Amino acid sequence: MKFDVLTLFPEMFNVFNYSIIGRAREQKIIEINVHNIRDFSTDKHKKVDDYPYGGGAGMVMQVEPIYNCVDYLIKLYGYKPHTILLTPRGKRYDQEDAKKLSNMKHIMLICGHYEGIDERIMPIVDFEYSIGDFVLTGGELASMVIIDSVARLVPGVLSTNISYEEESFYNGLLEYPQYTRPREFRGMKVPDVLLSGNHKEIEKWRRYQSLKITYLKRPDLLNKALLTKEDKKMLDE
Ligand code: ADE
Repeated sequence: MKFDVLTLFPEMFNVFNYSIIGRAREQKIIEINVHNIRDFSTDKHKKVDDYPYGGGAGMVMQVEPIYNCVDYLIKLYGYKPHTILLTPRGKRYDQEDAKKLSNMKHIMLICGHYEGIDERIMPIVDFEYSIGDFVLTGGELASMVIIDSVARLVPGVLSTNISYEEESFYNGLLEYPQYTRPREFRGMKVPDVLLSGNHKEIEKWRRYQSLKITYLKRPDLLNKALLTKEDKKMLDE
């Protein structure tokens, strides 16, 4: 899968040289190309923003350098990738969106800055996403959140024995607690059932823990979760 990012701060994306995403890039399972919008400014001072028409505080990002960059990519690839704009006014991003995007072959992310982007950006935007009801200084961190959450769903990015099907949000519930060695740490013991070797009991315990944690921490998720008859019985108890 390919990602192309349009930003004024390309160095911020060096985070993707590390860890799981860094390895997936080396293995060519995913490709992340970062483009500096400033390189596409035709202004002699490489200006990319200007004062807002109608007055008001702050600067507005100009559309011309962004369109120039998009034109360059369309020429390079021979088509326009699905285009995402990161903005607080977008749809609140969630795991369902991550799944949807992970089925696409190529996405392009536009990171806004300053007080916003000239509204005439909209004809080239396919999806607007917000990563939460708060305002960031720019779209970079938001687009990193999207790239990371989408890339890890691409087959081969996570090692094969890790299953995203078991994790939080896969079936709408939060994940059960995990333990590793030692068996006892500062008086805190690993639950006996996990040492029992009884896989059926372990599975039951984990499901119960998932339900309990979701009920206590995020009861709103239970309405949407896929619950079995046994789950409902456990919740009633
Ligand atoms: N840009 C600024 N704030 C944002 C947010 N919450 N989500 C996405 N992009 C943003």
